Amino acid sequence: MSSSLTDGREAPTLHWSQIHGWFRWRDLQEEAAATFAAGSTFVEVGCYLGRSLCSLAEVVSAADREFTVVGVDYCRGSGPEGTAARDAHAATVAEGDGTLAGQLHRNVIACGYADRVHLVVSPSPAAATLFADGSLAWLHLDARHEYDSVLADIDGWLPKVAPGGWLSGDDYDEQWWPGVVAAVRDRVPDAEECSTGQWRWVKPKSA
Ligand SMILES: C[S@@+](CC[C@H](N)C(=O)[O-])C[C@H]1O[C@@H](n2cnc3c(N)ncnc32)[C@H](O)[C@@H]1O
Repeated sequence: MSSSLTDGREAPTLHWSQIHGWFRWRDLQEEAAATFAAGSTFVEVGCYLGRSLCSLAEVVSAADREFTVVGVDYCRGSGPEGTAARDAHAATVAEGDGTLAGQLHRNVIACGYADRVHLVVSPSPAAATLFADGSLAWLHLDARHEYDSVLADIDGWLPKVAPGGWLSGDDYDEQWWPGVVAAVRDRVPDAEECSTGQWRWVKPKSA
């Protein structure tokens, strides 16, 4: 039997730390919630089963200001990628008959964030067109890690980041993810390494 919170919502039955995934930038999430103004929008591209996304929802829920949290994923997995050419999402996608959207959404609901997190099931660069230029405080990339994909992600999302906002991403690692490092160096050469294996570019306040 499920229990209800005093406002009528179902009590969470899952914590983000129990969701399978590859998340290690909690410190950036906490820094974003401490840095950006109330009403800011944070977008995470590449959610898989929601580990990092539900952590972000937890962080903003604990903040003293309201933020909008959006997760973008086309829910078909990234395919073989990186130096090891590993397809890490294939089994999960196959279990969902070609999509992991159902499991991602179930996890968001089970963590108690159904009303806080907006899920956009879409290819990454196409999803970027849904947002106004300069409208995002933070855009974090963790989708496909091959050079052309990261380049397309950066090109699509960079204009959407507000002056002073962050464009960042996971797996800044020359050995395992050379495509990420090369695309970041080619497009945003003044990006810096931060957190654990992350890169971050801060958009100049005046262009
Ligand atoms: C490394 S996983 C994300 C891991 C997640 N951030 C976590 O906390 O574990 C990458 C995800 O990106 C998605 N993805 C890959 N290419 C994409 C694209 N072009 N557009 C949207 N999503 C994409 C895959 O479906 C996959 O779920």
